[in-house]
Order: sequence, then C-alpha cells, then structure tokens
Amino acid sequence: MTEASPNKQKPEPCSFVIFGATGDLTHRLVIPALYNLAAGDLLPEKFCVVGIARKGMSSDAMRDSLMKGLKQYKTRPLDDAIAKRLLECVTSIEADPKEPHSFDGMRERLEKLEANRATGGNRLFYLATPPAAFAPIARQLGRTGMLREDGAWRRLVVEKPFGTDLASARALNDELLRLMNEHQIYRIDHYLGKETVQNILVLRFANGMFEPIWNRDHIDHVQITVDEKIGVGHRGSFYDSTGALRDMVPNHLFQLLSLVAMDPPTKFNARGVRSEKAEVLAAIQTQSEEEALKNSVRGQYQAGKSGETEIIDYRRTPDVHPDSTTETYIALKLTIDNWRWAGVPFYLRTGKALGIKRTEVAIKFKQAPFAMFRDTPVDRLSQNYLVIAIEPTEGITLQFNTKVPGPTISIDGVEMKFRYKDYFQAEPTTGYETLIYDCMIGDNILFQRADSVEAGWQAVQPFLDAWKKAGSKGLEPYRAGSEGPDAANELLRRDGRSWRRFG
Ligand code: BG6
Repeated sequence: MTEASPNKQKPEPCSFVIFGATGDLTHRLVIPALYNLAAGDLLPEKFCVVGIARKGMSSDAMRDSLMKGLKQYKTRPLDDAIAKRLLECVTSIEADPKEPHSFDGMRERLEKLEANRATGGNRLFYLATPPAAFAPIARQLGRTGMLREDGAWRRLVVEKPFGTDLASARALNDELLRLMNEHQIYRIDHYLGKETVQNILVLRFANGMFEPIWNRDHIDHVQITVDEKIGVGHRGSFYDSTGALRDMVPNHLFQLLSLVAMDPPTKFNARGVRSEKAEVLAAIQTQSEEEALKNSVRGQYQAGKSGETEIIDYRRTPDVHPDSTTETYIALKLTIDNWRWAGVPFYLRTGKALGIKRTEVAIKFKQAPFAMFRDTPVDRLSQNYLVIAIEPTEGITLQFNTKVPGPTISIDGVEMKFRYKDYFQAEPTTGYETLIYDCMIGDNILFQRADSVEAGWQAVQPFLDAWKKAGSKGLEPYRAGSEGPDAANELLRRDGRSWRRFG
C-alpha cells in the first residue's frame, strides 16, 4: 500500500476505462497519477487508456486535452518521453448511459482495441462522473456483459459521494451488487491514499507501546479536525445540495475515525482490516434526533478574509440558494458502543473558509491521577496529546510535561515531534497513485466495503434528519477566516474539555 518502490511488481496487462474522461477529476488527478505510476515503471507492460466521451471526441483531441491537464496538474517535472508514451495509449470511445445502445458499440470497439493491445481482457472501469451517472453506467456495463469475469478480471472504481443518505447508499450498493460481486467494486476515498493516514495502522500495530494504553482506561477523548481555508468557490451547485456533513464525514472523517478506533485485525489483509473497520463504524451509537441536535453544531460562513483571500458570503456564492440553510461547518460528538471505547467521546469538526488549513487526529490522554507536585496544580499541567498530523505538516507529535531546569519543581508542557520530511524523501504525488495501483493489482485493502459505507451513513443519518426538520434554527453564522462558530467550543466546554489549539 505504498507508492512506487523498486520492490513493486508491474500489474497484469489491462485496459483502464475512464467515464468522465473530459472532466476535472480525470485531468487533475487520474492522469497525473497514471503519469507518476508510468514514471515509476508501475504501469502494466500491455496497457491502454480508454476515455469515454459523451459527445464523440477524437482520440487526438482527447490526448491534447489530457496533455494540457497533465502540464497544469503534474506533481513533478514532466519527462516528455514518458508523457508521450502514456498519452499514446489513450483512445476515445463514445458511450452515453442515456443512449443504452451506445454501450453495445463501446463493447465492440473495446474488444477490438484489447485484441490489438493484447491486454488480455482485464478491465478497470473508473467512474469519474457525477454520482447520478454511477448506477446508469454500471447497469449498461452489466447489460452488455462487460463486467462478467470470464477468465479476465473486471473491476469498477466508484468515486465519492457514495449515496446522499443511508437509503440511497443502500440502494446503490444493492444495484451494484446485482450486477457484480463485492470483490469487483472499489469504492474510493482519497484520504486512504494519504501516507499519514495509512501510517495510523502502522503506528498503532507495528509498535508495542501504544496498544496497551489505546482504550477507555487511558484515553480521555479523541478529536478529529479537518479545517479548510478555501470557501466553496465554483462548486456552489454541488455543495449547496451536499453540505459539510455529507461531503466530509461519512467518508473522510470516518476513515480517520475507523483507523484510530478499530481493533487489531488478526491478519494484515483486506478481509481483516476491512472487517475491523466495518465493526467499529457499526458500533458508533445511533443517536435519536433529539440527541443529535444536542451533540452537534452546524454553521455557515459569512463574508471575511482567510489569510490574504477575500471570501464572499456563502449565500452569495454562484449557484447557492440565497436563503440556503446548507452547513459549511459541523462539529459532532459521537460515542462508540464497545468495550474499548465506552465512555470516550469522539469529537469531530470540519469546515470551509476557516482561518487555517489543518487536518489532524488528536488523542487526549487522561491526566495524571493526582496532583503530586505542590505549587503545580494539576489544572496547570499541560495536556497529554498524541497528535497525528496529516496537513499541513505530516508527522506525529507527543505533548507531555517536563521539569523546567532550576532549583524548584516547576513544570511545563513540551512537544516531541516527528516530521516525515525529516526522515523520508518522497516524490510529491496526487495521492491517487497507490489507490490506482492497488486497484490494478486487485488489492482492495484501502477501499470501502459495502457494509462500512452503510454503517457510516447510519451514524450520520440522525443528524441529517434532525437538521432538515430544524431548517435555519440552530444554524450558526461564522466569519470567513475565523475558527468557526463559538458553539463548537461550547460543545466541548460543557463536558469540561476544549479543542486542541493549533501550533
Ligand atoms: C473532497 C471534498 O472530497 O475533499 C472537498 O469534496 C474537500 O470539499 C476535500 O475540500 C478535502 O480533501 P483534502 O485532501 O484537501 O483534505
């Protein structure tokens, strides 16, 4: 589950079929990631990229457009020969789920191409499309037999958002599972492509010292923070019907939560890891709507300045309803009903247009049990946090108390810091390389299983329901560039706790 390394094998021959090949995701992430894999010699020997275009587009026009994207979004200097070789693999084929017969033609062209390129019939279908197209495309792929594994593998990568609530996520799972088997479905979440996120498992399970204290006896609570400086920008139409909770929580924040809270699997393989993650997500207590209102804060930003960037009022963003009650910030208190975590709150927060960009998980340990050091009352002791920092710095920090040098006992909080960049030199990536490579070699350890997705939606559904009923009541305004609404501080304050300060 790491990027290009000399020990990695090339995947088997395959065709890489992208639906939404003319879109932003393909240009910004998928093609630059394929380029980085090509540069690391990690693409199959026999390989072709098929870009599915709705309104017929020549292969040359598609290659030009992808090349432009590659130049704009590359994460490292381009080697022209590698870029050229990659783009020579691209062929444009037309198919549109609104015109089902176009998939029959697509199948014919794909089979011919596969025979020419000797890809052995292995296919990866990548759905880089708006979510409304996921099921219709899968249905046509199923109808035309393109998903059938008859001696070759057939895989489908589905981007987020996977559903918009519990019912729609279930319906999408049901539909996909009628057309193919679970092992063929790769539900992607780019957070699992982040090295620091993958490292949570290594930190916890490759070291003997954390696991014995990783439980309710020693941990007071856990904070998961994903703060963003950017506003909604040009994504008004998508965002206004989505909101911060759907956009971030059942996927990205729950990936972090499940890796931090899961039990150790007996084997480090897809089955073991995914089962433990699903277990812990299913153990998140389902709150009543009343509890959900009490244990949540939602906010919406107003005009302000984040750093040097002026951000307009959320409601004045293009394609956002002028009376929108969509939340751009959320804070939640969740509990996990199992032996390890009973009584340990998990506080989650995420928002747009905030004063800083920061993604971290902070594990707050319990205080020393009594105030042994006279003149240094316990409440003056610094808090013991283990912080897994994902952005902007990647690393791990341990905060603890130490004696200030001098004749008297005086105590101060200090930090022990590990930063990735001090130890490892890694080429910058898009974050998609590992995920795409894993998909080509058939390792789905970093992809979400149907039950995990549903467990995630199950946990957030009461918040969605309660907020829908409450409308604008309880929607807290906050200034762009601030820390978010003060009510988020109150959520912890009333439990005698506070959010970890940054820096
Ligand atoms: C995306 C959301 O999935 O994740 C965006 O749709 C969000 O709204 C982004 O900005 C955050 O990703 P990262 O990697 O920048 O934390």
